Amino acid sequence: MAITSECRICSGEVVEFIDLGRQPLADAFRLPESREPEFFYRLSVGACRGCQMVQLMEEVPRERMFHQDYPYLSSGSTVMRAHFEGMAKRLLATELQGSDPFVVEIGCNDGVLLRTIAASGVRHVGVEPSGGVADLAASEGVTVRKDFFEESTALDILDSQGHADVIYSANTFSHIPYVDSVLRGIKALLAPGGVFVFEDPYFGDIIERTSFDQIYDEHFFFFTAQSVARMAELSGLELVDVEPLPTHGGQLRYTLVHAGARRPSDAVAARIAEEERRELTAPDTLSRFVSGVERVRTELVDELKRIRDRGERVVGYGATAKSATVLNYCGIGPDLLEFICDSTPAKQGRVTPGMHIPVRSPEEYRRSYPEYALLLAWNHAEEIMAKEKAFQEAGGRWIRYVPEVSVT
Ligand code: SAH
Ligand code: TYD
Ligand code: ZN
Repeated sequence: MAITSECRICSGEVVEFIDLGRQPLADAFRLPESREPEFFYRLSVGACRGCQMVQLMEEVPRERMFHQDYPYLSSGSTVMRAHFEGMAKRLLATELQGSDPFVVEIGCNDGVLLRTIAASGVRHVGVEPSGGVADLAASEGVTVRKDFFEESTALDILDSQGHADVIYSANTFSHIPYVDSVLRGIKALLAPGGVFVFEDPYFGDIIERTSFDQIYDEHFFFFTAQSVARMAELSGLELVDVEPLPTHGGQLRYTLVHAGARRPSDAVAARIAEEERRELTAPDTLSRFVSGVERVRTELVDELKRIRDRGERVVGYGATAKSATVLNYCGIGPDLLEFICDSTPAKQGRVTPGMHIPVRSPEEYRRSYPEYALLLAWNHAEEIMAKEKAFQEAGGRWIRYVPEVSVT
């Protein structure tokens, strides 16, 4: 019997297609001496028969994930800093109306995008529930409201600040299961000619690259143009543009407006036609994906065991949230991966969720190179390869597992 749940978009039937087992919270890095019981949930994903939206079967309470000590810093990558600075400049140049425009960001994290908006003097607010990262944004001159964005937050902002010309959200809209409330909020807060722009990992790329590590507690929805178009329609909004992005392993940026406010670009129909041709949520496609995931697990674990049995060392590179899924699903612990290096201060000195692999600074990896490095932050490959050229020059080899297991 298929396992089903109710779609958060259209109330249709969501049919499970992959079960990644009992998983910890992906960003819950622990002190090594902690005796606190660890929180686990069942990580599984389904596709809605009605609107095609791909979504988690179980929801983790938001306060468990996003709190004062949420460790992820958006500014940790030079490439991402440039990406968001570019986007901020584009929004400033193209989407502001009237003499006192207003920009709202949902999930501004450490202010990586809004610092450029703040520096230009444009009125703005970043809504960010995680206190530590919100404080970093404020220290960059960004106006922050420490809160979860939902309908009540939106109505409150509307009351005090008026309509928004731009509502922007990167890597956050997909994190929000209570999307009905958020969409009602956006519909109310958005100016008549305004845009709601968001970017998130693209399900088409996840299927193409077997990047199953995009699946973890924080990533509730896996969008396609088809499912977003339907979601918009059900909310009185309309999808008028889609733009593929190379960031975070393949994303799509969606532009929504009040229904009928702008003519959709040709890119929308073209993308939807391509998705129909690829049958992204057809049972065959999904079962091929599951087989691919199982193959990656077998090959990766075999590779790591062979290296260990030869007495050689492997260190992980990038204690990503994504890596929690790979390590826990594959059962990779400190016996196979000595430690993981990561530049984020709040992760160093801790151990990874579930598998309890130590996280150390990149300097520790550079001090005594291992024979192999497992590229867990594969979405930042170019930046990391450039930074760590000396590793390969010294004979070190990179292990990757996206789109397939390879050693170079
Ligand atoms: N925009 C940044 C941050 C992504 S991390 C980037 O692209 O790098 C996701 C962020 O969303 C976290 O900082 C988290 O605290 C925040 N978040 C989670 N739920 C939210 C909600 N309902 N409203 C606003 N922010 C939220
Ligand atoms: P990222 O892949 O952006 O996100 P997620 O945690 O959502 O999967 O995380 C990248 C991690 O890699 C982050 O903890 C910072 C770290 N990192 C480095 O240690 N060095 C680097 O050069 C880069 C780009 C990232
Ligand atoms: Zn649905």
